[in-house]
Formats: sequence, structure tokens, C-alpha cells
Amino acid sequence: MALLIQNGEIVTASGRQFADILCEGETIQAIGKTLPVPVGTEVLDATGCLVFPGFIDPHVHVHLPFMGTSAKDTHATASKAAVLGGTTTYIEMCCPSREEDPATAFHLWKKKAAEGSVCDYSFHLGVTRLQDGDADALRRLVHEEGVASFKVFLAYKGAFGINDEELYQTLKLARELGVIVTAHCENADLIAERQAELIKQGKLGPEWHEPSRPIEVEVEGCHHLMTFAKLTGAHVYVVHTSCGEALNVITDARAHGVQAWVETVIPYLTLDSSFAEKPNFEGAKYVMSPPIRDRHQQEALWQGLRSGTISTVATDHAPFDFATQKHMGHPDPAQCLKADFQPNGEAGNFSLIPNGIPSIEERIKLLYTDGVLLGKISLETFIAVASTNAAKLFGLYPKKGEIAVGSDADIVVFDPKPTSTISAKTHHMATDYSAFEGRRVSGQIRDVAVRGRFVVRSGALVVGEGGGRYLARPCTH
Ligand code: URP
Ligand code: ZN
Ligand code: ZN
Repeated sequence: MALLIQNGEIVTASGRQFADILCEGETIQAIGKTLPVPVGTEVLDATGCLVFPGFIDPHVHVHLPFMGTSAKDTHATASKAAVLGGTTTYIEMCCPSREEDPATAFHLWKKKAAEGSVCDYSFHLGVTRLQDGDADALRRLVHEEGVASFKVFLAYKGAFGINDEELYQTLKLARELGVIVTAHCENADLIAERQAELIKQGKLGPEWHEPSRPIEVEVEGCHHLMTFAKLTGAHVYVVHTSCGEALNVITDARAHGVQAWVETVIPYLTLDSSFAEKPNFEGAKYVMSPPIRDRHQQEALWQGLRSGTISTVATDHAPFDFATQKHMGHPDPAQCLKADFQPNGEAGNFSLIPNGIPSIEERIKLLYTDGVLLGKISLETFIAVASTNAAKLFGLYPKKGEIAVGSDADIVVFDPKPTSTISAKTHHMATDYSAFEGRRVSGQIRDVAVRGRFVVRSGALVVGEGGGRYLARPCTH
């Protein structure tokens, strides 16, 4: 059935206009003032509302076996939370262990998403090893499955982390294939040394996570990647950039010809390192890597978004429960869920807390409230960094990230007037806590369509499970 969205103000990365949008099937057919209403068309009145292209989250984790546990969401829960928060497409990090071969892992991740996702999805393929035959398997996935981006970890030694030889060969392969390489940039050896030092000194609580991976550790990781990118010519995208110093390294490399782009994530823009100091182990809720920095870093990140040196605001959604998972790193042996793994029921420590924060549902409202309403970014920049730029970087544009004739009818009708309070009691993510508990946010994600199909009406979910589509992507780098 055709759908006509009337009387709203359309906002895209390039401008604003009052116009109607006519969608036929999955696609936008026409945009114009007071469009005629074809017979049988459903009409949605968007008076007083802003009409946005569906938002894209280019960095999420859903299926994530990590740090001795597994992230809590399924694609059914994560994607429902995503669309309620205005996100109509996400790109998940497919993160195999070093024991899994790339093709088996890719098909496992894809199957899990196909089973439940109500929104569209794609994958950055984690290259967590590069042994005999792996390069050919990667080539095949790029050509046959439309994998247009890889993911490498310079951190997480012994888990997802790769060595320098593998990094060099992966970047060379990516350059050959036109694939962009997304990268977690922290020096793994420095982290291991500093963790051991702090733990030896009895510094065990979540507040010691940041000092174990200070800014210099991230800066070194970024510099490392820039060196390898320069020598191979690979196009790289630094995920979850937390501070101005790391941003400067990448901006500097760009000035010297390195093809590099930068992502930051919503926790860095809205939280600060003091949250990890909360008493009663509450600080564990805020343990992610790189760590959340001092509050003054937020301004450097907002400035990066304004100037365009930061292209995207993702979530790095990585949902672990507080009670049953974050407690794996509790320093009190009586409360440490990892005690059974430790000789003599030893105390836990911050290095055992599963890294990650759930935020897929809250990204857009937080970015609008703290970014647009506080005058940090314009509405157009808001759309660019939360939707359009990711589409352009990852081979989804102009189907996604745009309101234009021929684009997918992924549309968010946003009412700027209502306010609400974020709480784990009302969120749809599978975790038992919200890192943004009690925060007032402005605006309601009123109606959301994914390829012309409503998934949210009047702020409520109107679909069951599934219906999302895998997005094969061309290599554009
Ligand atoms: O702490 C984080 N960021 N957890 C998720 C895994 C990753 O590094 O992206
Ligand atoms: Zn990471
Ligand atoms: Zn991540």
C-alpha cells in the first residue's frame, strides 16, 4: 500500500523543507508540497513534527561472546530497541574468536540476525586472525556476500586482537579489494602491563579501568594504525574515539594523505570518567573500552562533529547485565561471580568486568537533547553524523541515510515537544540497567518505517520479530 506523510518538516544532512513524502512499496516515489493523494493511500499527518531519514548505527554488538560471557541482547530485542530509538539500520561487528574460520563465523552471525531483526542490518567482518586460507575466505565473502568493511582490534590480546603482521596483511588485502577497515585502536601490551601493575597495587575497582588504558594508550593505537594505513594505502575508520588527543593524531595523518575517518559513540558525549567512580560497584556499569574520559573531552568531540573531523556518532552497543555479568569483576570475593574461576576464591578486579555499555535505544534522543538542543550541533549535522555519513562510508547511500526519490522508505517522524525520562524499567534492551538512568530527554520517536513498513506507531512497537533485511554492500573504497 502507498503511504503519504503530510505536513512535516523534512530534515536531511543537506537542508530542511516543508514537504510531503509519497512512498510506494519499499521506496520513496515523490517529494513535494501538497502532493495529490492516490486512491488507497494511507495518510500520516506529521504536523508539528520533524521528518528524518532512518538513522544508521554503524557500530553495534548483538551476538558477542566476550570476556567469558555473552552479550545479553538477541537481534529481536536489540532491533526492537533500535527502531523505538529511531534506528532503522545497524551494522553489527561480526567478532569471531581466533579458533573460528571467517566464513563459518560470518554465516553464524548472519543467521542470528535473520532470525530476529525487525530493522535492516549488515556486518563489519572481524578479521581476528589471518592464517593460511583466511585471505581467500575473506575475498569470497567480499565478492559473494557483499561484505564491504572489515574490523580489526589492536586491543584484546589473546581474544580478538591481531598481531602486526596480520594487521599489515589485512590492510593490504583491504586495499586490493576496496574494503574499508574499521579499527579498535588501543595498544594491547601497554594495557596488559598497566592492568598487572594496578592489580598488584590492590587497585581493583572499576575506577581503575580508565588509568589502565589512559589517553596515551589510545593515542598510540591510533598512531599505529595510521602508520600501517599510510604504508598500505588502506582506507581506515577508527571506531569509538574517546578524546581530542586521539582525534588530533588521525586529523594529522589525514593531512599527510592517510585515508582515515573517525567515529565517536554516544557514551563519550554524554558521560564522563566520574561515573566509573560511583560507589557500591555501580561504576562497573560504565566500564567500556577505550574508557570514558574526563568531562572536558566532550567539547573536543562536539567540536570534531561540528568541523566534520568526526564523521559518525554510533553506540558501540554492548549489552551486559550489571547483576550477573558486570559482577564478574567485583573486588569483593563474596560478590565476585568470577570467584569460581579464581584460585582460592580470590577477589575479582576491573580487568574482569565485561567491557561495554547498552545504548542502541537512546542514541538519537541523547544526541538530539545534548547536541541539537544545547546548540552543540545543527539539525543537519545531527542527521549527517547519525545517518547519512555512515551510509556514504559503508556503501549504503543513497538507498539509506537520505530522503530522496528512489531511496528506501526508512523514515522517522519525530515530535520535538514531549519529554521523557530514561530508565531500565521502561527500556527494551535486554539489560538490567541503563547507563542513562533518570536522564530527561526531549522529543518522541513517534512513527518509524523500515522500507515503507511501519515498525513503530505513536511511540509503540507494532511488529513482531523479523522482517529486517541483510544489506549486501558494494566496495566503495
Ligand atoms: O567496551 C567496549 N567497547 N565493548 C565492546 C567491544 C568493543 O571494543 O567494541
Ligand atoms: Zn572496540
Ligand atoms: Zn565495539
